[in-house]
Amino acid sequence: MAIVGAGIWGENHAKIYQAHPFCDVVAVCDQNKAKAQALAAKMNIPEHYDDYGEMFAKSGCDAVAIVTPDFAHAAVAVAAANNKKHLLIEKPLATTRDDVRAILDAVEKNNVRAMVDLHNRWSPAFNVAHQSVENGELGTPYNAYMRLNDVKWVATDMLPWAAQSSILWFLGSHSLDTLRWFFNDEVVRVYSVSREGILKGLGVDTVDTYLTTLEFKNGGVAHMENGWITPNANPCLNDIKFTILGDKGMISLDVSNHNMIQKYTDEKVTVPDVVVQHSIFGYPKGFAFESIRGFVDCILSGAEFPVSVYDAANTSIAILAIMESAKTRMPVEVVY
Ligand SMILES: NC(=O)c1ccc[n+]([C@@H]2O[C@H](COP(=O)([O-])OP(=O)(O)OC[C@H]3O[C@@H](n4cnc5c(N)ncnc54)[C@H](O)[C@@H]3O)[C@@H](O)[C@H]2O)c1
Repeated sequence: MAIVGAGIWGENHAKIYQAHPFCDVVAVCDQNKAKAQALAAKMNIPEHYDDYGEMFAKSGCDAVAIVTPDFAHAAVAVAAANNKKHLLIEKPLATTRDDVRAILDAVEKNNVRAMVDLHNRWSPAFNVAHQSVENGELGTPYNAYMRLNDVKWVATDMLPWAAQSSILWFLGSHSLDTLRWFFNDEVVRVYSVSREGILKGLGVDTVDTYLTTLEFKNGGVAHMENGWITPNANPCLNDIKFTILGDKGMISLDVSNHNMIQKYTDEKVTVPDVVVQHSIFGYPKGFAFESIRGFVDCILSGAEFPVSVYDAANTSIAILAIMESAKTRMPVEVVY
């Protein structure tokens, strides 16, 4: 593997590949050379670059992980595909229609494999719930509700580029992919209402929250809530709720506020993460890491990826429609 983007999530990619028995990271690139160099030293990666074109030409990697900010995936993905590298692209696939098309064209033209890291499909709770839909226990999905919010700190402190992205790209892409997967259908019409001001007041010029109604082609309806303004005292980084109702049954998830583990100190109460990303005897564990490991496994075995680049493309196109709806305050038909 080679990695482009030596930031927070790029380091996680490196840990997973280095822990995989049949995979190594041969090179890392960051436009900030010092970051590439530091990650190479920390994770025992032989080569580092500040120019991804040079890395693709020289490193001899089979596949590339693209872990640059949300708006900076397309140029790297197209260049990697043109160098005949398989691609694991971080979510969202891309944030403009032109970028989505450019990536699909490059993947098809070069006949490379591409997966997007929409990892909620690997979440144990969501995956088991999905099995109940697949095996017919819930009947035909009728309606659903999904909340996927972050505490404010993610927008104000964690991501230097939050103002150049949106909670819809950062978490809404996971929500929309999950809902498309449960309904096994495409969104045809959206209506979204957004609010802003809290994050702007904190110096981050981005929307606070979107409340969206989605209509699916075969009649399913879903409500989707994505916000970046959950109070920082929330015991988890995320606030995740999900309900799906079919004509034979219903399933509900409360993934963030489970009662499996609570930690109390004199300062605060927290719910340590034992589901999304953690470490057991030094090995990276959790579903956010399973998806990345799964990419390597599928490249080795030739198996299909559980989430395709076309899933991710349609998710990005539907998010653009949601943004248009929130701006125009009108329902918008999604044109793929
Ligand atoms: N799967 C998940 O749930 C998950 C979780 C966290 C982040 N992510 C995604 O991972 C991506 C990176 O997020 P992050 O938190 O690591 O961001 P980050 O800011 O910590 O790191 C991004 C790095 O990319 C580098 N970079 C930017 N443009 C570049 C270019 N053209 N060439 C080389 N390097 C470049 C920056 O210098 C920076 O070091 C985002 O798309 C984010 O949404 C996914």
